[in-house]
Amino acid sequence: MIYLDHAATSWPKPPEVMEAMRRFLECAGGNPGRSGHRLSIEAGRIVFAAREALAHFFGLDNPLRLIFTPNVTYALNTVINGYLRPGDHVVTTGMEHNAVMRPLRALEAKGLQLTIVPCAPDGTLSANDVVRALRDDTRLVIVNHASNVTGTILPVGEIGALAHEAGVPLLVDAAQTAGVLPIDMEAMHIDLLAFTGHKGLQGPPGTGGLLIGYGFDAGQIEPLVRGGTGSRSELELQPEMLPDCFESGTPNGVGIAGLGAGLAFVQKRGVEAIRAHELELTRRLVEGLRAIPGVTVYGPEDLELRTATVSFTAKGMRVSEIGFRLDEEYEILCRVGLHCAPAAHRTIGTYPEGTVRLAPGLYTTLAEIDETLAAVEKVVAR
Ligand SMILES: Cc1ncc(COP(=O)(O)O)c(C=O)c1O
Repeated sequence: MIYLDHAATSWPKPPEVMEAMRRFLECAGGNPGRSGHRLSIEAGRIVFAAREALAHFFGLDNPLRLIFTPNVTYALNTVINGYLRPGDHVVTTGMEHNAVMRPLRALEAKGLQLTIVPCAPDGTLSANDVVRALRDDTRLVIVNHASNVTGTILPVGEIGALAHEAGVPLLVDAAQTAGVLPIDMEAMHIDLLAFTGHKGLQGPPGTGGLLIGYGFDAGQIEPLVRGGTGSRSELELQPEMLPDCFESGTPNGVGIAGLGAGLAFVQKRGVEAIRAHELELTRRLVEGLRAIPGVTVYGPEDLELRTATVSFTAKGMRVSEIGFRLDEEYEILCRVGLHCAPAAHRTIGTYPEGTVRLAPGLYTTLAEIDETLAAVEKVVAR
């Protein structure tokens, strides 16, 4: 079997991740931050260690400004629904995932003003176009770091610098880049960073988070959920301190233990080395697909402007048929369709049919890419 669906979730997980989760359940199965006994304290220690390591990884010294969430969707919704108010103006891009688009569209129906800056057909975007869309009443800019459809990397640092000159904070959806590209919140002028744990960070499903930069007052965000936090139990009002304010209910301790181990694995390999490996796979994949008659590959020509996510279509064939045959006849697992990002497909001109998406990852080999190219060539030749 060849697994080429890392943009959806990475698989298999490193053995260290599974071992950390097993150990958490066996040796530290208490409720973190709740009770005073040793199992609760050990669980709290593991959760805090992961919080600290992740905050540092993204360039924040203060781990209390990292809020654990079940995924990036929840982190994005925390900001979109908790910070924005009817009448506010928001700027976003034509390459966003529905994790951004759906909450924004729902708020738009209640009076939010939305400007969607169009991207080029390869998904690229000029930072100046974003700046031109800013108004005096713009409260937030939201951009994804890299597209889950074409892998196009957006100029987040440049957008952040220009948005800050205009006094507007930046929220970044790093679902496709956390663990795959270097991210430094301060250097890239990112105020709010939403990430998911189960893709490039090699953690299990059910993990993710939101980091709140030093320049952003967290008190401006209303929590989505209120309840028990293990702290200030005498109060019937939600505590205001970070991260408790946004972390009501028992956390996913076992998942966070796995995420911490996933991050340690990524750091041991090195983000630069992971990026170099994925670029090599992408080059082979893009060049090989382009050489197959009838195949159109989407995304930027310049490989430095893309992650390892590659979308293609083939003349005269439904994408669903290509995906089905790759799976049934060659055991090659990919994803076809709109990938929860209809806006991105409108931008690249593949709406409503979508594309076949091949997304190699950390463990993918060049031999697997060659096998995949041979299989695609046979499937589309029929
Ligand atoms: C760019 C982008 N944003 C958001 C998401 C949603 O991720 P999750 O399901 O982990 O919340 C994804 C996942 O496919 C994505 O690629």
